[in-house]
Amino acid sequence: MNFSVIKEIVNENDSIFTIRFDSVMVAKPGQFLMVWVPGVKEVPMSLSSIGDDFAITFKVFGESTKKLASMKKGERMFYRGPYGNPYPEPEGKTAYVAGGTGLASLLPLIRKYKGDVYTGARTRNDLFLLDDDFRIATEDGSLGFRGNVVDLFVKEEDEYDTVYVCGPEAMMRSLLDRMHREKHGNVYFSLERLMKCGIGICDSCSVNGYRVCKEGTVFTYEQLKKMDEFGVYRRSGSGKIELIAKVQ
Ligand SMILES: Cc1cc2nc3c(=O)[nH]c(=O)nc-3n(C[C@H](O)[C@H](O)[C@H](O)COP(=O)(O)OP(=O)(O)OC[C@H]3O[C@@H](n4cnc5c(N)ncnc54)[C@H](O)[C@@H]3O)c2cc1C
Ligand code: FES
Repeated sequence: MNFSVIKEIVNENDSIFTIRFDSVMVAKPGQFLMVWVPGVKEVPMSLSSIGDDFAITFKVFGESTKKLASMKKGERMFYRGPYGNPYPEPEGKTAYVAGGTGLASLLPLIRKYKGDVYTGARTRNDLFLLDDDFRIATEDGSLGFRGNVVDLFVKEEDEYDTVYVCGPEAMMRSLLDRMHREKHGNVYFSLERLMKCGIGICDSCSVNGYRVCKEGTVFTYEQLKKMDEFGVYRRSGSGKIELIAKVQ
């Protein structure tokens, strides 16, 4: 277990926070940490910044993320990692498609390689770290295109040679089903499943036998097309198989 001293906690909006910290770790875009929240559990968190400045950016959902959001500058944050295979480098014209906090995982790539960013959420209050150039979708129409980010992106899909995707699994499944990339281009999806060990031992994150923490988190379009559990079934905290609600 490593630790870093927290440099800053930024409140991006009502429920989304960024923790900035110093570290000497070697990490690549797309990798994640298992952050220890004392007294609660460990939570997987993508690195939203890599380099001179390291950061995680997260939405408050339950006890762990609530506790992380209440940490203070100067406190120590304990973690293991980085884990997971990074995103491959882009070729040609590049798009990034983010649903909700999936943007956090894509930010180090976006900063390094540039390209067109499509980001979506239920409402404008769920969006964060927006840039003037981002193409925005909100389901309630409170900002940008009214609808989901999949609807916004699929119209433009053919413009791009490389596409990176991260967001809720149902959103990524919907995009996978609506894209037509068999003949051209590189498409990479980063999966965020329930994780316990983060290192390939417990099987809580597996999809069709692939451990997301070890063989992923990044999978290609072609790999996911063969995985019938992707976006359909997942494991609950108790290990029970449960259905994932579909995106319409
Ligand atoms: C590889 C990986 C990288 C991740 N990176 C990030 C990141 O950069 N930023 C980030 O905000 N989250 C990220 N997550 C998700 C994050 O780990 C969870 O949100 C976190 O574990 C929630 O813990 P909790 O104790 O606060 O909530 P819990 O008590 O575990 O959950 C509370 C409730 O919220 C629901 N819930 C939890 N997480 C989510 C979610 N992501 N979407 C929708 N509902 C949810 C649960 O089903 C439950 O009903 C990542 C997950 C993985 C696997
Ligand atoms: S989290 Fe344990 S195998 Fe992936």
